[in-house]
Amino acid sequence: MENRDQLIMTAKAMVADNKGLVAIDESIATLNKRFEAAGIPQTEGYRRAYREVLITTPGIGEYINGAILFDETVHQQTLSGIPFLDALNKAGVIPGIKLDEGVEDLPLSPGEKVTKGLDDLVERLAAYSKLGLRFAKWRAVIQIDGQLPTAACIASNAHALARYAAACQQAGIVPVVEPEVIMDGAHRIERCAEVTEWALRELFQQLHLLNVELRGLILKPNMVLPGKDVKEKASADEVATLTVECLLNAVPAAVAGIAFLSGGQDPESASANLNAMNLKYKTELPWPVTYSFSRALHQPALEIWAGKDENVKAAQASFLELGKANKAAGKGEFISTDITL
Ligand code: G3H
Repeated sequence: MENRDQLIMTAKAMVADNKGLVAIDESIATLNKRFEAAGIPQTEGYRRAYREVLITTPGIGEYINGAILFDETVHQQTLSGIPFLDALNKAGVIPGIKLDEGVEDLPLSPGEKVTKGLDDLVERLAAYSKLGLRFAKWRAVIQIDGQLPTAACIASNAHALARYAAACQQAGIVPVVEPEVIMDGAHRIERCAEVTEWALRELFQQLHLLNVELRGLILKPNMVLPGKDVKEKASADEVATLTVECLLNAVPAAVAGIAFLSGGQDPESASANLNAMNLKYKTELPWPVTYSFSRALHQPALEIWAGKDENVKAAQASFLELGKANKAAGKGEFISTDITL
């Protein structure tokens, strides 16, 4: 593979120094929904302004190695005219792009989804590579519900993730592969462990089949958690033990790093769970284990900002504090934050 060394170098840099990634790649619809809940107007101008709050946070590079962007953001700039991509590079943050185009119903599998976006992937990768984006993300959605997921859902999504990962590497872009077992439902934590391990095993078979270089790839998995309708929360120790067991069983040691999604957990829980993994198991983990959060890194910042210029500094301070908390969790040194969702 022509780009192998460069891919490996970029992937390593994305998870170096106990730092992780920030996902600021919410689609227009998703960000608008969050804006609506926070009383912020849902316009392109406000979306740009919010991205600017995060991207221009002084000191962002202390806690963040890479930022996953949405297409709209890639082409935007700060109010003073600096392209967002330049601002990120200057801050030492590698810019990446969300490449999937959301989900659609999986034929013959009622209630299940498969991710869209493979058709014109090669052309889009070439264009993003030219713009200077160095990694990309693709999210698959796997739901637990009664007999779901089906083998059809697990296999279809694993194959799509592997096709995407191969296309990324061919274009010199590091793939972040995200098979998300979502928290919706009332299932027990053990069921989440079982499904997560199944999805990961299938994914790595497909990645192998499609000749993907694992040293130039980042895995973005869910943590192993009980369904969100289960009243009793799992302890950080239990989440850490089941998650690490699952990863050790299913993820080859060659993978460059593991960067979790937060999946709707509150920031405190997401950091505490990540911390427990690194505190209890660091010496057994063959990969850096870190974060690629959206909500658990900056939902509080969004609420503090609320669309008002006078709140920018406080919003940035909140984002930075969660960055700091999660970097500490990457070392097993997280204590607590006062920030709640
Ligand atoms: O694809 C999901 C996002 O990149 C991560 O978002 O941390 O809010 O689950 P989250």
